[in-house]
Amino acid sequence: MVIYQIYPRSFNDTNGDGIGDLNGIYEKLDYLKDLGIDAIWMCPFNSSPNADNGYDVSDYRNIQPEFGTMEDFDKLLKGMHDRGIKLVMDVVVNHSSNEHEWFKQSRSSRDNPYRDYYHWWPAEKGKPNYRYSLFDPKGDAWKYDSTTNAYYLHYFSEQQPDLNWENPKVRQEVYDIMKFWAEKGVDGFRLDAFQFAAKDTTFPKLPDGYEKNFFEYYAVQDGLHDYLKEMNEQVFSKYPVMSVAEGAGRNFQDAHDLVDASRNELNMAYAFDGVDVAQYGGYELSKMKQVFSKWDSAFADQGWLSVFLSNHDQARMVSRWGDDSPEFRAPSTKMLNTFILSMRGTPYCYYGDEIGMTNIDFQTIDQYQDIAAKNSYQKAMMEGEYMELFMRKLNFSSRDNGRTPMQWNTFQNAGFSTGKPWLPVNENYKTINVEASQNDPNSILNHFKKMVKLRKENLVLIHGTYELFAKEHPQIYAYTRTLGQEKMLILLNFSKQVTSLKLDENLALEEVLVNNYENVDLANGTVSLKPYQGMVFRLK
Ligand code: GLC
Ligand code: CA
Repeated sequence: MVIYQIYPRSFNDTNGDGIGDLNGIYEKLDYLKDLGIDAIWMCPFNSSPNADNGYDVSDYRNIQPEFGTMEDFDKLLKGMHDRGIKLVMDVVVNHSSNEHEWFKQSRSSRDNPYRDYYHWWPAEKGKPNYRYSLFDPKGDAWKYDSTTNAYYLHYFSEQQPDLNWENPKVRQEVYDIMKFWAEKGVDGFRLDAFQFAAKDTTFPKLPDGYEKNFFEYYAVQDGLHDYLKEMNEQVFSKYPVMSVAEGAGRNFQDAHDLVDASRNELNMAYAFDGVDVAQYGGYELSKMKQVFSKWDSAFADQGWLSVFLSNHDQARMVSRWGDDSPEFRAPSTKMLNTFILSMRGTPYCYYGDEIGMTNIDFQTIDQYQDIAAKNSYQKAMMEGEYMELFMRKLNFSSRDNGRTPMQWNTFQNAGFSTGKPWLPVNENYKTINVEASQNDPNSILNHFKKMVKLRKENLVLIHGTYELFAKEHPQIYAYTRTLGQEKMLILLNFSKQVTSLKLDENLALEEVLVNNYENVDLANGTVSLKPYQGMVFRLK
């Protein structure tokens, strides 16, 4: 399958409140169908006070009122199914919102029946051992609550208290919630931050500075596999659903154990090593090749991987991996989409990347909406960081870059909303939008559709083995995919220089299937590639 990811808040607003909604997605179903994608992963749409835009759920069985009603949801799901599109929903259960009824009960008294739904540390025992919080301005995951004179744990913001997975009642609640949605016809689950769910609840002291490598202590700890097996037994095995968790653990062994079919846990891994290669300041192609090849080899015989270059927690694909200048934005976006859609593993395409949407250029902290951005700003201030550099880095890598409204056309607010959008529309919408892309046969959008089609019509692009060659080439990423007699060659120039590659004699080109330029420049067995040129060939 090809999965398309939607951030509902930013996709399409139908009632003019500046916030995308379910009816907005419904309105665009024919557009989505036309892309050729098979499934949509929708970021959280459950009720939420929005400390982290839905990643803080206050009612798991309801729809975020800003997004619509349960009727709207049912209509949307039916509309998707009528078009053969499946729905993968986000399940945010490492933590809930602090406004969830469970937490309100839990914090109300020490002997409340919900007390053990969360992690509490009585203050008379002293301060609990330090735990790192990813979102807290002080980096402290323990929050003191005077109501019961105790601390509670939050790996993310203090509005996102961690659920206690050791409590069988919590687990049963979660499975029941998942069954509720599976009964409604949801086709898959993406488990948010789930690799952090299992914890050593004695909260021992961890080595100084452990937060620099906190994955060792946070990801896939004892108990996690048991929880997943139980979830599989109770939910995944009972319904026709797929499952993927965010993160793939600390190492290959973890990743294998999460997705080896024989273990009955999850269907596919979603590892971050790939996207982590590109940071502020750029990235090295050699490193990228190395990481993607390594992950492919890890699942050569068993298990299955996700392939992606962006999502709602990342900067825009083209701004980060390609070149978003007017000259190179189109070829580099096309080249990157060629990459995602020709690798082994399930491609995840993020909304807007099919038209080459770019980072937005926020300069001051009050332009940002993201809790991670705001809290990391406070932290940097307190720690006396060099703020000019901090702001440049944030400008490049903030999650808000990937959350600006979808650019549909040249009308007001890019056709996203008739009201004031919750996050500004990128000013470049006059040129970068769906309508303009639809009218141009050479557009990024039409190239994307061609790649999706090619993948779906050629099993070799799905199941074929992957082999990297020209490993040392500094600009070109080259690989073959092979399935029985079928063989394809993919050549991608990741730079703005013209560059060339001598092809091995055993690579006899038969046909060009996709090319983001008009011609193939081949002479005496050497291919020359234009800036960001990307091609797929069928081999003899
Ligand atoms: C995951 C989500 C991210 C969210 C965090 C806390 O990383 O992808 O958006 O902020 O979990 O739920
Ligand atoms: Ca709306």
